[in-house]
Order: sequence, then C-alpha cells, then structure tokens
Amino acid sequence: MVTRADIGVIGGSGFYSLLDDAEEIELATPYGPPSDVVTVGRIGSRSVAFIPRHGRDHRFPPHRIPYRANLWALRSLGVRQVLAPSAVGSLRAEYGPGALVIPDQLVDRTSGRVQTYYDIDGAVHVSFADPYCPSGRATAVRTARSGGWETVDGGTLVVIEGPRFSTRAESQWYAANGWSIVGMTGFPEAILARELALCYTSLSLVTDHDAGVEAGQGVTHDEVLEFFAQNVTRMRTLVAETVEALPDERTCPCGSALDGIKLPFELP
Ligand code: ADE
Repeated sequence: MVTRADIGVIGGSGFYSLLDDAEEIELATPYGPPSDVVTVGRIGSRSVAFIPRHGRDHRFPPHRIPYRANLWALRSLGVRQVLAPSAVGSLRAEYGPGALVIPDQLVDRTSGRVQTYYDIDGAVHVSFADPYCPSGRATAVRTARSGGWETVDGGTLVVIEGPRFSTRAESQWYAANGWSIVGMTGFPEAILARELALCYTSLSLVTDHDAGVEAGQGVTHDEVLEFFAQNVTRMRTLVAETVEALPDERTCPCGSALDGIKLPFELP
C-alpha cells in the first residue's frame, strides 16, 4: 500500500517521538529533496507526516531551507493540513518567553527566497490576505488553552531573512508598526502551503524578547536553542493534541485557494 498522511508537521527534531508505527520515506520532488527523509506515522487515529525543518542534523539555516520541496513532499503524501511549530522572538513586553502565539497575520521581510511554485510563463495570483487557516488556528488556540498554556490568539509575525537577528532599530520599528513576534522561517512556508491549497497554522513559541524590547545585548542563538529545548515536551504535547483535534473534513477556505485558477501543472 502507498503510504499516505492527512496531517503534516514541519518542526524541530524533537517531534520524532510523537509518531507511533513510524516509517521513514525518502522523497524526491521537482524542487529537490526535502530537508530530510519524511517520517510518517500515527498520532491516535490520525496519520501524520513529519519533516524536521532544518534537517535532522540542523544543516539548513533558515534562508537555505528547501521550503518548496518540503511542502510539495507533504502534499504528495496526501497531506492537506499543516502545523508549523517554531521559535520566535517577542516584540512586546507583555509576551515573555514561554508565551504561545497563534498569529493571524504575517509580514514578509525576507529577501531572495524563492516564494512561489508558479515561477513560469503565465500568471497565477493566489489570495493571501489571511495567510493562516482559520480552522487550524481556532483548534490550536482551544487546545493550548485547555492545556493551561498562556496563548495569544492572533497577532502579526514578521519574518526576517536572517540568519542574523534584528538590530535594535529594526526591532523597534517592527514593534512600532504594531507587529507582535519575529521569526525566520514562517515565510515562504505559509505562502507555499497556500499555493498548494493546504491549511497552514503557525504555533509560535516565544523564546526571547527581541532586541528592541530588551535592554542589554540582544538575543543570542544559544538563548533561543536553550529555551526551545526546555519547552519541547510542552510543544510536543500541543502538536499531538492539536493533530487529534483538527477536523476530518475541511470547511475553511484554504482548500479552494486555487479554484478558478488555470494551473500550469498538476498538483501532486
Ligand atoms: N527566533 C527566535 N527568536 C528570534 C528572534 N528574536 N528573532 C528572529 N528569530 C527568532
């Protein structure tokens, strides 16, 4: 039987242990290989495919992640809903390390990343006004809160190019615009999911106050890694419970993102 999965998780390597009856699948895509072999297994009654975003050995920094291959690989396994846990910095004094933000908006401050599958003759323009799946967001917020997690429902994630962190002035500018959190991987992941008509939900764990909020030296890589590692069990539980709580049938608009658009190739 061909291995299939309904739900995709793109996250850190701490998520392998979530999956029962796990099988590793090496996948090729028109965009090259994904970040690593895809692990497909079960969480309760749901079939889940997991990709470690940075590779198992963390070889891909944010600006070199094979984003197109990752989303394509998930769709080719049958995935239609994607959960994307990641570490972010907070742009607001009131959200400290440990807060969970389920953003509803995104600002792209990346540069030079390929951000479309439709980089070909002809025009495919996909709506992206609301970049995240409303149903995935509501499920994640409900699940996190019922587990007692301080959860921010909504907010704007600024995605920077990295790999450096922001200057204090950049960070203060993001905050002055009313944006809430800053990360390095949420784009183009979100738009590529939309271009494949997938549901995409960001589970953003605040690991630090970004440079504009905090006096002192600013954020360090070690600080981010250490905090994320301390919270990985909590994040794993949230991902597992959200997977089980996601609806079987999609009623959100994400699945119709490509309706009426003449695609230049067939989706997997
Ligand atoms: N990931 C975690 N913390 C971050 C920060 N302050 N800026 C960008 N990406 C991050």
